[in-house]
Amino acid sequence: MTSALSLFSPVEADLHLLSDNLKQLIGARHPILSAAAEHLFGVSGKRVRPAIVLLLSRAASTDGDITLKHRRLAEITEMIHTASLVHDDVVDESELRRGIPTVHSSFGNRIAVLAGDFLFAQSSWYLANLDNLEVVKLLSQVIMDLAEGEIRQGLNRFDTGLSLDAYLEKSYYKTASLIANSSKAAAVLSETSDSVANDFYQYGRHLGLAFQIVDDILDFTASEDSLGKPAASDLKSGNLTAPALYALEEQPYLETLIEREFAQDGDLEQAIALVQDSEGIQRSRELATYHAQTAVKHLQVLPSSEARQALINLADYVLRRLY
Ligand code: IPE
Ligand code: IPE
Ligand code: MG
Ligand code: MG
Repeated sequence: MTSALSLFSPVEADLHLLSDNLKQLIGARHPILSAAAEHLFGVSGKRVRPAIVLLLSRAASTDGDITLKHRRLAEITEMIHTASLVHDDVVDESELRRGIPTVHSSFGNRIAVLAGDFLFAQSSWYLANLDNLEVVKLLSQVIMDLAEGEIRQGLNRFDTGLSLDAYLEKSYYKTASLIANSSKAAAVLSETSDSVANDFYQYGRHLGLAFQIVDDILDFTASEDSLGKPAASDLKSGNLTAPALYALEEQPYLETLIEREFAQDGDLEQAIALVQDSEGIQRSRELATYHAQTAVKHLQVLPSSEARQALINLADYVLRRLY
């Protein structure tokens, strides 16, 4: 299995620099907030989003080089992502992230909400300082979309009438919007044509959807140890994702269990087993594969390069990732 690391080799050095810069950017004005933020930047995640921004930036550049603004965009993208995770873990009451206790479980909810706000605010400041109004608009839209996605997910808990389209729309807001719009922003900074910028956007959108669908599959199939975050948690909290929505089509009893919000002993375990024994996982994989393949089609506009090949391989990695 290709690790994320070897996959990102064309931007390996850039990602190291990014990790160092992120810690610097958070600053130390409020020790408790920066302690909370550093807590997450200290153990880095997979850095999929900044890697995409950096790879697209390299692939779009005529001399293969990237500017400081492209680097800053990648940093802002990871900062927005991390802020959204801090808040998401509060909403999901999740205790583990990146293999360590979440900010709210270490520092309490009040600090976690403030630390998330602090990171969003910091990212907006660095965004404004890019001095590019179009990029500011793209990434501000993302911050609105993240809130929209969390709100939709909250409103649809335990709703067995949720359609697959509504699930995909929510997934766009929660996950794909950031990848799509930061990809497009990389094109804007590179002053590509509108049509190339749109291809970057579509690559990010489809890859983001595939990424979230795979994350939703892993919630049913992987362990907490391998994920570095709790497993089997979506159904428990009433978050009906692709595997459960497909399973509902063939397992009528699943609807009963979900409708009564797993009130009786053993309900949740039985519901998870029904999803695992259904075609739901396989059909979700097919859906993720469709989106990953569609993402790759949008890279055809780019001349062949090491960075472009890494972006193609990334789509494959998203489908095979284990955490
Ligand atoms: C987690 O994202 C949230 C989802 C969109 C599924 P990642 O899986 O990229 O998290 P990190 O950054 O590697 O921890
Ligand atoms: C993605 O959704 C989280 C955000 C984009 C904020 P999940 O709720 O599935 O993410 P995990 O599983 O907690 O990482
Ligand atoms: Mg979550
Ligand atoms: Mg998840």
